[in-house]
Amino acid sequence: MINGLIILCAYLIGSIPSGLWIGKIFYNTDIREHGSGNLGATNTFRTLGKKAGIIVTVMDVLKGTAAVLLVTLPVFSDTTLHSLLLGLVAVIGHMFPIFANFRGGKAVATSAGVLLGYSWPLFVLLFITFIVTLKITKIVSLTSMIAALVALIYAIVYYFITGDFALGILVAFLFTFIIYRHRANIARIKNGTEPKVKWL
Ligand code: G3P
Repeated sequence: MINGLIILCAYLIGSIPSGLWIGKIFYNTDIREHGSGNLGATNTFRTLGKKAGIIVTVMDVLKGTAAVLLVTLPVFSDTTLHSLLLGLVAVIGHMFPIFANFRGGKAVATSAGVLLGYSWPLFVLLFITFIVTLKITKIVSLTSMIAALVALIYAIVYYFITGDFALGILVAFLFTFIIYRHRANIARIKNGTEPKVKWL
């Protein structure tokens, strides 16, 4: 019972379509009708500008962090579930949100939030990797996939040092989700039509 409830909470948190709601409430704009059509932070930056982009990024990151931290709430103290499983559920909610016809984002920001909740040094490493790679490539999707690869390598090293394989399993899932959700971006990168950011 308690496990089902906590999983439902994690899914509902992940399902919050930040980009869609911020766009509709404050800008009267459905970001799915603009840019890449994606519901995520990148398309919010692209469509609504820096301020909205930063707000949506923070919200999407915190969804993942909040889901991982659910296990620390007294009401869920009896759960037998691993916190990372809840992070995974939140990312699934982000990709398939019940509040947006199951058409969600590409898993990047919420995955980062899950890692922030579980291993902040990994989050810091990925944040630095992301900024440096984005400065070089100017392509957010490529940068996201490279950061996901770095996370996978870190998780493998982390396993050999600590014996904790839960992080490795989680990151393997997140890496797979992120690559799969970027199929269209990969095709555009290959044919040279993927847009570059101008604001960095
Ligand atoms: O976080 C998603 C990003 O990697 C790509 O977004 O809108 O350029 O497809 P977009």
